[in-house]
Amino acid sequence: MTLDVLLLPGDGVGPEVTEQAVRVLREVARVFHHALDLAEGLIGGQALARTGSPLPDGTKRLAASRSATLLGAVGLPEYDSQPPDRRPERGLLELRRALGVYANLRPVRTSPASLAATPLRPEIARGTDLVIVRELTSGIYYGTPRGVSGSGPDERAVNTMSYTRGEVERVGRIAFELSRGRRRKVTSVDKSNVLENSQLWRRVVTEIGSLFPDVTLDHLLVDNCAMQLVLNPGRFDVVLTENMFGDILSDEAAVLSGSIGMLPSASLGGISPTGARVGLYEPVHGSAPDIAGKNIANPLGAIGSVALMLRHSFRLEREAKRVEEAIDAAVTSGRVTADMRPDGSPATTAEVGDAVSAALGGL
Ligand code: IPM
Ligand code: MN
Repeated sequence: MTLDVLLLPGDGVGPEVTEQAVRVLREVARVFHHALDLAEGLIGGQALARTGSPLPDGTKRLAASRSATLLGAVGLPEYDSQPPDRRPERGLLELRRALGVYANLRPVRTSPASLAATPLRPEIARGTDLVIVRELTSGIYYGTPRGVSGSGPDERAVNTMSYTRGEVERVGRIAFELSRGRRRKVTSVDKSNVLENSQLWRRVVTEIGSLFPDVTLDHLLVDNCAMQLVLNPGRFDVVLTENMFGDILSDEAAVLSGSIGMLPSASLGGISPTGARVGLYEPVHGSAPDIAGKNIANPLGAIGSVALMLRHSFRLEREAKRVEEAIDAAVTSGRVTADMRPDGSPATTAEVGDAVSAALGGL
């Protein structure tokens, strides 16, 4: 089949990790006899500098016309003092919303290499196999009213955490369906002891749960969830939560895998104007400008995102598995970047890409 993919390398380490992910994608196409149809576009700080917009119309159009978009990272320190609507991050937030990819899957697993790299005790991290399903196109990231008004001691900044029943239902369904291919357990995370918004969330998730009687549902408050993730991560299978809680908890959960550089993500649920399914794939880590251009960033989150793309956008399960096995093989062989090898001799970004590509062909 033809794999039609838009590449958005973006800012910071985005281009170098995307380069390795594309090498792996090319290798998959070669080994499994698929055609590749790649396009490239601008997003984030790089797009702001060249076009004045963090998400140029051309990029939006390209993304809507492709089955899948592979994004590197967005964010640059020179925009740190800018308001949200003039920041690189706005490009990514607009893209998620424009594509309608409301369900963001962030799988977290441990391997022997994770146990060596994590600061947690190995007996705690061992055996972690969970996926965070983060609602991605609503909540406090997008709610209105928002903004800053007034001055002096009355200067006020407002953001709004808002969900409709429909928004909770659709992401809830994805989480329960996903759990059926796993250990059939969904943990919904909210702050319903304080927020009305979370009370609606919990009520609607409970209703959706009743449509999935074969799946066990439990609820955790987000503060307790943050603690349980590092006390007893083995208790989690699918973690379903709203946009900002999911953002925060996924960085925390990354520690279980050894490094945030390991985590891939898939953003699903999008439908293009012509009715075709569209997906967005990105590593969970950010642009890490302090290490950009040094060939030391971990490309495995980006490469893992290619595996998720093969699985979810192209329904190529065999190919997806093969990429995941190749990642495991590279990790097991010790060809990992410094974030995963605090005391060893680290490999470069490109060497990790080499190791995964070689393992792919050889498996
Ligand atoms: C993430 C990132 C983004 C988010 C930023 C870059 C806007 O932190 O994907 O986790 O907050 O969603
Ligand atoms: Mn984040």
